[in-house]
Amino acid sequence: MVKASAPGKLMLFGEHAVVYGRPCIVTAVNHRMSVSIDKRNDENIIVNAPEMNVRDYKISIDNLNGKHPRETAFVLTAAKNFFDKYGRESGLDIKTHSEFSSKFGFGSSSAVTVSTIKALSELFGAKISKKELFDISYKTVLDVQRVGSGFDVASAIYGRTLYFIKGGKTIEEIKIKEIPIIVGYTGVKADTSTLVKRVSEKLEAENEKISNIFDKIGNIVIQSKEKIRKSKWSEAGFLMNENQKYLEMLEVSSPELDRLIASSNKNGAYGSKLSGAGGGDCMIALASKENTAIVSAAIEKAGGTIIYVGTNVEGVRIEEG
Ligand code: PMV
Repeated sequence: MVKASAPGKLMLFGEHAVVYGRPCIVTAVNHRMSVSIDKRNDENIIVNAPEMNVRDYKISIDNLNGKHPRETAFVLTAAKNFFDKYGRESGLDIKTHSEFSSKFGFGSSSAVTVSTIKALSELFGAKISKKELFDISYKTVLDVQRVGSGFDVASAIYGRTLYFIKGGKTIEEIKIKEIPIIVGYTGVKADTSTLVKRVSEKLEAENEKISNIFDKIGNIVIQSKEKIRKSKWSEAGFLMNENQKYLEMLEVSSPELDRLIASSNKNGAYGSKLSGAGGGDCMIALASKENTAIVSAAIEKAGGTIIYVGTNVEGVRIEEG
């Protein structure tokens, strides 16, 4: 049996604009997703994903090409793409385990996809570089959900904190230790595909205006990269607020997010913004050590739940035992 695990992620800067070729910055968080895989002596693939209420879901290898229920789609499409590329087929027992709830938007789909392909490559002794792992995982995510820049896939593979351009055109580590971040969950589940679609409709309707906003966000990301690298957190916080203004212009924020962000900033955060597609999920804030408790309390008072996460953690890895 082989077990692989990959981290979840938090978008720090550049969401939405990254879908249109501008850069973004993402950090890997210490809530991991793991996948254990063993070969079977028959032609079946059996999936167990207890956190998704999937028990002994059974499918024959010959039917891997079909449509799968959402809860098993990433794992099964990953196995299909792996078999297609490396020409090895076998029945499999697959078991997933999540350290985090998929409701927070930490990227469980990308982490489970990357872990599955990593575990399969180890199980079948296929040598696979990080870039190959990226390409096959990104293809899997696009096969299942059609849209996405691939930032979450890169984060699951490379870990740490990355400066990223769509499709893995640039994947560059920003060398730092920990980020003084606070994460507030709104309690509302975001629907990434709907929000990405909404932005694409806006772009179609007002091309120049929206392209201009993407350019502005891209510039903020380039500046943020330097501030993060030098641990200039108050300046990075200022840029978070700037980024948030443009996200509001894209109409992807929400009353809940706005409330948590306003309360965080009013109580001494360096800056705050939504993280990810928007519409719900989480907001993030940067704050000094001295202010962390006050800002966290303010976010909770405004209706948020603080999620404790370590950032800048290791990417995908094989787990012993
Ligand atoms: O909602 P999340 O955390 O999956 O983030 C989506 C980020 C987008 O830029 C809106 C889409 C993408 O794939 O980059």
